[in-house]
Amino acid sequence: MSDFPRDFLWGTATAAHQVEGNNRGSDLWVMEHLSEGLFADPSADACDHYHRYPYDIALLKGLGFNCYRFSIEWARIEPEAGSFSYAALDHYRRMIAECHAQAITPMVTFHHFTAPLWFAGEGGWENARSVDWFARYSERAAKALGDLIPFACTINEANIPLMMTLMRRAGKRSDAIARSHRAAAQKIGAERFSTFLTGDGQEATPHLIRAHRKAYDLIKAYMTGKVGMTLSLNDFQADAGGEELCETARSQINTQFLEAARGDDFVGVQTYTRVRFGSTGLLPPAADAERTQMGYEFYPDALEATLREAARTAGTRLIVTENGIGCDDDRRRIAYTERALEGVRRCLADGLAIDGYIHWSLLDNFEWLEGYRPTFGLVAVDRRTQARTPKPSAYWLGARARQAQSA
Ligand code: BGC
Repeated sequence: MSDFPRDFLWGTATAAHQVEGNNRGSDLWVMEHLSEGLFADPSADACDHYHRYPYDIALLKGLGFNCYRFSIEWARIEPEAGSFSYAALDHYRRMIAECHAQAITPMVTFHHFTAPLWFAGEGGWENARSVDWFARYSERAAKALGDLIPFACTINEANIPLMMTLMRRAGKRSDAIARSHRAAAQKIGAERFSTFLTGDGQEATPHLIRAHRKAYDLIKAYMTGKVGMTLSLNDFQADAGGEELCETARSQINTQFLEAARGDDFVGVQTYTRVRFGSTGLLPPAADAERTQMGYEFYPDALEATLREAARTAGTRLIVTENGIGCDDDRRRIAYTERALEGVRRCLADGLAIDGYIHWSLLDNFEWLEGYRPTFGLVAVDRRTQARTPKPSAYWLGARARQAQSA
C-alpha cells in the first residue's frame, strides 16, 4: 500500500523563460544582454522547449509522472500593451492539449517572473496600474485556454520580490541593479524599467496581492478547475537571540501572503531550504553543513515545516508546486527528494490536505541570474544539440510516482 493517495499529482515543473528559448520580447531578455549585466549567461536557446514540448511531455510521461507544471509567457501573448497574439495563445492551447492527449494533468502558471518589455518600461510591478494590466492579460489568456486547464497558478512566488528586496538591504547588489535598470530603460527608450526579480519588492507587494485576487476571479470565470498562487516558503528558524528577526521575516514574507490566499482553491508550496536568524541578522549555513550549488544549505526537512505552516496559516488545500536541488551529484538529488517526500508523507498521515508533489525541475535549465551553472534537472540537456538524458534521479522519482499510482 502506498502512503500517497492514488490520485496524488506526481509532476515535474518548468517555467517558460527558463526552457523555451529566445523569449525576445521579455524584460529579462534585455537585461541579459546589457554589456555590464547582472546575468551570468543569456538565456539564448534555453532548452528549445517552445518547439520540443511534445517530446518533453512524452519524456515525463514515460518516466512515470502524471502531471506537468509549466508557464505561459505573457511577453509572447501580449507583445504590445493591449494587443494579443493569437498565434502565441494557439501555441499554448496546443501544448495543454498535448498534455491531455498524453494523459498528463497540466498545471498552468500565468506569470513566472518574466513580463513583456512594455510592462517593464512602465515600471513593472512597482506601478499600481500593473494590477489592471495583469488582470487584462489573465482574462484574455483564461478565455482562450481556461476550458482545458484543470489547475492554474496566477503568480509564481508572489512573495519573492519582497524577500529578495529585504535580503538585498544587507547590501551590495542594489547599486548594480539600479545601473542595470537605467541601462535597460535607455536601451528601450523608456523613462523607467523594473522587473519582478530585480524591482522594489516593497512597492510591488500590494500590487501583486491585488493582482492575484483579481486574476483569481477572472481566471475562475473561464474554467471549472482549481486556481491558486504559489509562494516561495523558506523554513525560517531562529537561533538564540534571533527570535524577533525571524518572526518579523516570517510575518512579512510568509504570513501576509498565506493570509492573502485564504479561501483560494489551493496554495502552491515551493520550498528549497531553511533560513536561520541570529541576534544580528541572517546566519550563514554552519561550516560543516552541506551546501547546494546555490550556496544555501542542503535541508530537505524544510518542506515538511513549510507545509505545516501553510496549512495553519492559509487553511487551504496544498500542492507542492516546487521542491528540488541544484547539484551535480545526482545521488544527492535522490537523497534530498527522498527526505523531502518523507516529510510530505508525515504531513499526509497527520491529515494535511496535500494534493501533489511537483519536482523542480524536469530539465537542467536557465537558472535566472545564475545562468546555466546550477543544475536542478531530473534530465540533463546538452546545450549544443539539445539532447535530453534522464539522470538516475528521474528514473527513481518516476518509479516512485508510478508505484504510488498503481498501489
Ligand atoms: C523558481 C524557479 C527557480 C527555482 C530554483 C524557484 O524560486 O520558481 O524559477 O528556478 O526556484 O532556484
